[in-house]
Amino acid sequence: MADIRNNFVGIKSPNPFWLASAPPTDKAYNVVRAFKAGWGGVVWKTLGEEGPPVVNVNGPRYGAIWGADRRLLGLNNIELITDRQLQLNLQEIKQVKKDWPDRALVVSLMVPCVEESWKAILPVVEETEADGIELNFGCPHGMSERGMGAAVGQVPEYIEMVVRWCKANTRMPVITKLTPNITDVRRPARAAFAGGTDAVSLINTINSITSVNLDTFSPEPSIDGKGSHGGYCGPAVKPIALNMVAEIARDPETAGLPISGIGGVTTWRDAAEFLALGAGNVQVCTAAMTYGFKIVQEMIAGLENWMDEKGHQTLDDVCGRATKNVTDWQYLNLNYIAKAHIDQEACIKCGRCYIACEDTSHQAITSSVNGVRHFEVMEDECVGCNLCVNVCPVENCITMVPLAAGVLDQRTGKTVSPEYANWTTHPNNPMSKQAAE
Ligand SMILES: Cc1cc2nc3c(=O)[nH]c(=O)nc-3n(C[C@H](O)[C@H](O)[C@H](O)COP(=O)(O)O)c2cc1C
Ligand code: SF4
Ligand code: SF4
Repeated sequence: MADIRNNFVGIKSPNPFWLASAPPTDKAYNVVRAFKAGWGGVVWKTLGEEGPPVVNVNGPRYGAIWGADRRLLGLNNIELITDRQLQLNLQEIKQVKKDWPDRALVVSLMVPCVEESWKAILPVVEETEADGIELNFGCPHGMSERGMGAAVGQVPEYIEMVVRWCKANTRMPVITKLTPNITDVRRPARAAFAGGTDAVSLINTINSITSVNLDTFSPEPSIDGKGSHGGYCGPAVKPIALNMVAEIARDPETAGLPISGIGGVTTWRDAAEFLALGAGNVQVCTAAMTYGFKIVQEMIAGLENWMDEKGHQTLDDVCGRATKNVTDWQYLNLNYIAKAHIDQEACIKCGRCYIACEDTSHQAITSSVNGVRHFEVMEDECVGCNLCVNVCPVENCITMVPLAAGVLDQRTGKTVSPEYANWTTHPNNPMSKQAAE
């Protein structure tokens, strides 16, 4: 059986599945239930500084996007950091860590951007024996207007400064949680690295309005007729998160910086993809909020089964395996040629591939032959874009088949070259050496 024990910046957990800082980790009651269900670790819901806790809205705080089967695809929230007393949280953290020593317990923090505030909170968290801290530089609403959360996370200089304060004032490992609400995620990652962070985690939620009520003209969730932008998360944000993780993982300036992958992880496969792109572990929020804590059991079993099947013995055999295959567009092999192929046995003749290709792609699919409904790819027109694959309702009905070297591409009339050739040397590229000669 594959060994999925995780060691993330020295913090050990029996598996790489941690609950992200959010409602599932807001109190001991939840965290204990999560640990009983099998979660490897948690990042406790973000704590603020000593004093009267923040106040949440008293109405709806979530908006959502659903698929046609009402499966939750994206969740939006306007919740703030914990609204429970700091001392109560600290007591519970200490007790839970004592009772569950083999699980990872990291404490998320967000205090004002002055060194005194960090100096005040760090020792009291250290006292709980928690395994580490996560700096919440990501919350996109409510706290950012008060100069915290994303307001810090969008300014690399502030990130570096706060990370430095934390590293100087605590022995606990520091994980810096990044906001995706920024143009180039490598900038804040580099700043955190420069400040001495032990790791980064990403992504926090994405600025969003999920819908507008067309009777009241209020954005949802609506509080007395008004809405405010919230933070988007869940399956819909996974592609954005995967790209950001990969961007950091392959950045030579932050080489070796551990990454905790967050954003839409719902199945073991999502987790494996984050690991393959360079994450050392994953954090989960929306999937637990949608399906309950026991979903981790399927994630654990699925990951173990897949690793066994593929002969991966430990997480190190998986982590970062896909990173080297992420490249810039200009290095993609322009001599790689594929054509769509329709399996006539599987085809239900719905015509979706035809209309997609006919109206918006390359007019490469027949709709009828001799007056009979028939969908077939015309290889002399097909550019291999795979739009038809993606709109076909029958899985694996349309597949992309690469042309072997030496075969004639009927569309261009050229034989397929066995050589790798990319845009940097393409004759049409004015910047290429070949073109210059
Ligand atoms: C209701 C809600 C509250 C959240 N509160 C926090 C928070 O206090 N601190 C934090 O760092 N992230 C917070 N998050 C963000 C999550 O930790 C996580 O980064 C995000 O939801 C993406 O993961 P997911 O797609 O698995 O949900 C919150 C998310 C939700 C849905
Ligand atoms: S791969 Fe693109 S061009 Fe080819 S048949 Fe499908 S949609 Fe048309
Ligand atoms: S979309 Fe798929 S099932 Fe529908 S006609 Fe095309 S190949 Fe057949």
